[in-house]
Amino acid sequence: LPSVGFVGWRGMVGSVLMQRLQDEGDFDRINPIFFSTSAAGGAPPSFADGAGVLQDAYDVETLATLPIIVTAQGGDYTAEVHPRLRATGWDGLWLDAASTLRMEEQSVIVLDPVNRSVIEAGLAGGVRDFVGGNCTVSCMLMGLGGLFRNGLVEWGTSMTYQAASGGGARHMRELLDQFGALHSSVAVNLDDPASAILDIDRAILAKQRHPSLDATQFGVPLAGSVIPWIDADLGNGQSKEEWKAGAETNKILGTETRIPFDGLCVRVGSMRSHSQALTLKLTQDLPVDEIEAIIAADNEWVRVIPNTKVDTVSGLTPIAATGSLEIPVGRIRKLEMGPEYISAFTVGDQLLWGAAEPLRRMLLIATG
Ligand code: HSE
Repeated sequence: LPSVGFVGWRGMVGSVLMQRLQDEGDFDRINPIFFSTSAAGGAPPSFADGAGVLQDAYDVETLATLPIIVTAQGGDYTAEVHPRLRATGWDGLWLDAASTLRMEEQSVIVLDPVNRSVIEAGLAGGVRDFVGGNCTVSCMLMGLGGLFRNGLVEWGTSMTYQAASGGGARHMRELLDQFGALHSSVAVNLDDPASAILDIDRAILAKQRHPSLDATQFGVPLAGSVIPWIDADLGNGQSKEEWKAGAETNKILGTETRIPFDGLCVRVGSMRSHSQALTLKLTQDLPVDEIEAIIAADNEWVRVIPNTKVDTVSGLTPIAATGSLEIPVGRIRKLEMGPEYISAFTVGDQLLWGAAEPLRRMLLIATG
């Protein structure tokens, strides 16, 4: 069995990855070696029968004995260890969830239902670094890949509604703590049906603006609000998350002529599924049922949601999409701007197709 080193398997993305590997019986196909940045020598995880003690994740000599390393430890770890490991002459496969190496010329962004040919060409051409894409981009392409892959998108814009989990586990906790604190601050009034809603509203706003409301992770309160900026300020008016949308979409697809893709990325108070509203300018005037058929046929996970109120509100929300590999796409209709302009809305579990699943599938490709 091929030996595979795992780093960062205990964090949120890593835990979802470990669960997916167990669910699919993938540990039977590999010999897993678990690394730790803090507990080398400790016991291996209970789900991996027979795995040896935890190895030191900073020990490049041990890492270099492995043909494949999978990391969800985060970008700082990659930045520190990957160059040292490559400097030893190691030419194994590095499978990474972090963004550090994504846009390097020598890396491929993995999303095999969409870019299997780019992955195969990379492997054949000696690429050794395979990196999971930005969650929003991966979920968008799993949903709308059919239009992109058939050359039907002239340009696109996406307005996102990104979940707390994109920030990390602590961000999810903070959001819930904020919801709880807001509720507590008006609970007595809420229980009284005769209380005035504007008094409750005023009390909530006061709590949201009060320094006692913990907003350490997001920087400003998210509960009962939205934050229209995600990731770094690039200094040109664009956020790094917005830059990734265009850069990674084109890299994943391996486009020769760049497809302009840009928009605004917004954090909202959902838990772990990212949503996005898209406007696409198509290269042709196609009937909506044909557009839906192309989208639906692209992969086995995409689900076209009929563009009715009843189907949309039940099937096209973070609550509907979370915990599932299915990617619902709906609100597909022609816009007033002209027959080539369509809207669409899609939702995806940010920890599944957005993070763990592309890496898990790349591991299967790498181990044959
Ligand atoms: N940057 C994403 C977010 C995380 O903050 O939602 C996953 O790429």
